[in-house]
Amino acid sequence: MNILFVGDIFGSAGRRIVHEHLGHVRATHNVDLTVVNVENAAGGFGVTPSIAEEVFDWGADVLTTGNHVWDKKELADYLKSVPQDSHERARRVLRPANYAPGLPGYGVYEGTTHSGVAYAVMNLQGRVFMGSTEDPFRAADKLLAGVKAKVVLLDFHAEATSEKVAMGWYLDGRATAVLGTHTHVPTADERVLPNGTAFQTDVGMSGPYDSIIGVEKDLVLHKFLTGMPGKFEAAKGNPKMCAALITCDPVSGRATAIQRIMLGE
Ligand SMILES: [Fe+2]
Repeated sequence: MNILFVGDIFGSAGRRIVHEHLGHVRATHNVDLTVVNVENAAGGFGVTPSIAEEVFDWGADVLTTGNHVWDKKELADYLKSVPQDSHERARRVLRPANYAPGLPGYGVYEGTTHSGVAYAVMNLQGRVFMGSTEDPFRAADKLLAGVKAKVVLLDFHAEATSEKVAMGWYLDGRATAVLGTHTHVPTADERVLPNGTAFQTDVGMSGPYDSIIGVEKDLVLHKFLTGMPGKFEAAKGNPKMCAALITCDPVSGRATAIQRIMLGE
């Protein structure tokens, strides 16, 4: 069984490059499950329901987010529009599970692939150098206790490499894949851990690489040089799609391989 996980789509350049590549990559690698992080797909800040629908149209099964999930107000209503047991598209857009109780949306989705394999996708947010949330490690334990599927993928949206590596080891043998997002910089440490969990510290941004992590270079440089606030705008140049392709045993859920993908224009 092959799973494709696409790193954070950033702005229109990110949407364009993922649209260009998602179809042929899914076909070439016989992908059974496609998960895409869309937290900054709308101009670099959050995601709208219509953009989420667009990414589903391209073939995504589940979408994940992160700390920018509430940037577009209309997304909260979209997440609230479906009950927990729904399989509609709005239910397949996740936000980190370790937020305050009672917020719109869910941090885990369980579904079935076209070939009949049960899977779960979980979304958690780290606590190091980020806004405060509940402990993601205990939250992972709780989510896993309720998951029936053997094939389980976690998008761990976190800043610190140490926290993400720690989560990989913590879930080794309990998840098919632990994939980091949020830093927008892909790491070259993809591997299958000893008990069968595919891991990569950060899958990297799917967006414009002639930028400072997605934003127009001059705007960010100005802020670093002066400390003055300014409006950030999504860059456009040199878009690349970053993804991880995971192969696993559909019965045990154990990963056997992970491959990094980075495709430009
Ligand atoms: Fe983020």
